[in-house]
Amino acid sequence: MKRVVIVGPASQALGIELARVLAIPSIQTEFKTFPDGENYLRLDIADESVIKEVDAIILQSCGPGRGTDATQNVRIFQLIMMIDIVKRLGAARIQVVAPYLAYGRQDKIFRPGECKFAEVILQMLERAGATDLYTVDQHAPEIFNAVNIPVTNVDPMPALADYCQQFDLQKVVVVSPDKGAVERSKAFARHFGENTPVEVFSKERDVKTGEIQMTGSMEVQGSDVIIADDIISTGGTIMAATRELRAMGASTVTAACTHGLFAKGALPRLKEVCDRVVSANTLEGAASEVSVAPQVARFV
Ligand code: R5P
Repeated sequence: MKRVVIVGPASQALGIELARVLAIPSIQTEFKTFPDGENYLRLDIADESVIKEVDAIILQSCGPGRGTDATQNVRIFQLIMMIDIVKRLGAARIQVVAPYLAYGRQDKIFRPGECKFAEVILQMLERAGATDLYTVDQHAPEIFNAVNIPVTNVDPMPALADYCQQFDLQKVVVVSPDKGAVERSKAFARHFGENTPVEVFSKERDVKTGEIQMTGSMEVQGSDVIIADDIISTGGTIMAATRELRAMGASTVTAACTHGLFAKGALPRLKEVCDRVVSANTLEGAASEVSVAPQVARFV
């Protein structure tokens, strides 16, 4: 069976790398926004038969980029367009890889009158024609139950931990910024040795104001702390954790995350308080130092 990577507009570097790791060809897209704001996308192919009976791997992360042409919503629409195109052209299998799936944190009803939009996104991709879904370090993997197609949640923690081994860290303590991230932190810590301690903060976020309260007492005096989280958005979580860790005597603080959104200029602000800020390349950015291509390639 022939295979091809369709490189979505949001994942140029990762798409090309994935095709290289899999040793299969890639197809680019042409896209634009019409003057009225509608999106347009076509596969950059001269002959539509190249997709017939092919296994198409569509790679498109759905995080925000620069400008109104690259919002999460635009990325999702482009993804749906790509799925629909390869379906119309008779692809045998449509494997959709969305390393960062937007709206993942809207996985529950936090306040009356809300929508579980994380589930709706998955359902839209299934409905469009995806036969298999792959994502990386999904915030709440329980949402996968909302669809009938197989969904694979790729774990980037081994690669992030391997990357952090290069830093001169003597007495490592892994810190989970909240109770929801404990399993991820434990998985991360295992790569530094079975006995690497994992400490856990208790985090309360006001659902209306977004304000964060971070509490916890932990043994980090003289330690090299690594905070492992799935997402850094505004950086509020890492800032609050780092403040507490410094007050408790941590020697160094490294922030490691899968999805570096770095909203509202968070990266430079974080670099002022942390010793290092590292992210995987599910989103392309200045801190995206760890590639998930080899891990994704193992599953598709
Ligand atoms: C929340 O549960 C997530 O795992 C992240 O901790 C959160 O999204 C980070 O957001 P921010 O950087 O804005 O604090």
